[in-house]
Amino acid sequence: MPNVAVIYYSATGNVYKLAEAIAAGARDTGAQVRLLKAAETAPYDAIVRNQRWADHATATAAIPEATLADIEWADALIFGSPSRFGSVASQMKVLIDQTGGLWAQGKLAGKVASGFTSASTAHGGLETTITTLFNTFACWGCIIVPPGYADPIQMQQGNPFGASFVAKRGATPGELELTSARFQGRRVAEIAGKLHG
Ligand SMILES: Cc1cc2nc3c(=O)[nH]c(=O)nc-3n(C[C@H](O)[C@H](O)[C@H](O)COP(=O)(O)O)c2cc1C
Repeated sequence: MPNVAVIYYSATGNVYKLAEAIAAGARDTGAQVRLLKAAETAPYDAIVRNQRWADHATATAAIPEATLADIEWADALIFGSPSRFGSVASQMKVLIDQTGGLWAQGKLAGKVASGFTSASTAHGGLETTITTLFNTFACWGCIIVPPGYADPIQMQQGNPFGASFVAKRGATPGELELTSARFQGRRVAEIAGKLHG
């Protein structure tokens, strides 16, 4: 069975909830799954000024931080980031920008890759954040696997690029977004299994 790394950054927990569901979907296929977070790089002062950010950091302290060894281990990489001014959070970019050595050795080419996100508005960057991840995956030589409309849940969830959640006033991803996320995890793991299993 393939190795699947679900690697996310989340400040206030929305992307984390999607990541958990994606990891569960991948596990349902029998894949080996690691749920990992990008290391926090924001100053302590910025985190403690935002209660939700501080609470989430405490609640997920036990989630391991993603390393280059995890990225090398994975047959499938599923990356998630909140939309930050339409793009990927810098915490995720710091991890991505450490992969030059793996890339130079050809160790990223051929991996299956997929992306997911959350933003506070429907047109505020869901697609642009996921396609920013796709740019990186293309440079790595990955085989990009979006969920598309390959399951009926996608017609309801509405974003073929990847699992996503429009955050509204403290609400967390609901059953629709989580079902779509589980589907994405399943689909990516199944395709990785065909290529790498
Ligand atoms: C610095 C910053 C920039 C953001 N930029 C956008 C944006 O461009 N578009 C948008 O819709 N939401 C934006 N948001 C909102 C977050 O993407 C949204 O709250 C998301 O659900 C957070 O995910 P998390 O709970 O996993 O951290 C931004 C939030 C922050 C803190």
